[in-house]
Amino acid sequence: MTVNAALRDYLKTRRSVGIAFLREPGPSPEELDEILTIGTRVPDHGKLVPWRLVVIAGAARAAAGERLAEIARRRNPALDEASLDVERRQFLPAPVTIGVISSPRPSPKAPEMEQLLSAGNVCFNLSHAAFALGYAASWTNRWYGFDPEAQTMLGARGGERFVGFVHIGTPATVPEDRERPALADVVTHWQG
Ligand SMILES: Cc1cc2nc3c(=O)[nH]c(=O)nc-3n(C[C@H](O)[C@H](O)[C@H](O)COP(=O)(O)O)c2cc1C
Repeated sequence: MTVNAALRDYLKTRRSVGIAFLREPGPSPEELDEILTIGTRVPDHGKLVPWRLVVIAGAARAAAGERLAEIARRRNPALDEASLDVERRQFLPAPVTIGVISSPRPSPKAPEMEQLLSAGNVCFNLSHAAFALGYAASWTNRWYGFDPEAQTMLGARGGERFVGFVHIGTPATVPEDRERPALADVVTHWQG
């Protein structure tokens, strides 16, 4: 068995980098295609392809943020400018965000839970792909990933839901590691 030391070390040390610390340059169009290709190479019971991806990049980031601010203002007319600005900047400064939509298909073989997990795998694989190409990433799901109107505005159709948004860019910080669970707390060995 050949050890892939680079992959092992990446998996042992990887850390997300928050959207506020993701800067230009972002992936080129060719790199983005590669990230999307790797990101969609995931386990998928029944080969149902139960997910879709929405890329938010360039000028679309501010436009989508403006639409989020409009929805937020309709929900709460008392929101002040600072709060609306938070919404306007939901997809900034990261150069690119990929929204991942769970799009379950009728299947006698793969229950919806498995299809949802496959979509979750797309999120994490997109993140791995970004790091593999020298960028950093983080996976978030904020209110707009749960709000039906915001989800529709961002591209979800009937019966679909966002499972996450993977923000990608050049890291402006190197995060310290965070505490991880002790294996003894989360692993048991089944003994009957
Ligand atoms: C489904 C899902 C949604 C998440 N949403 C957020 C979020 O909205 N905001 C946030 O700061 N982190 C969110 N996280 C956590 C980050 O993606 C990340 O895992 C964590 O901040 C740092 O852990 P890591 O460095 O081990 O990846 C989410 C994680 C998952 C799995």
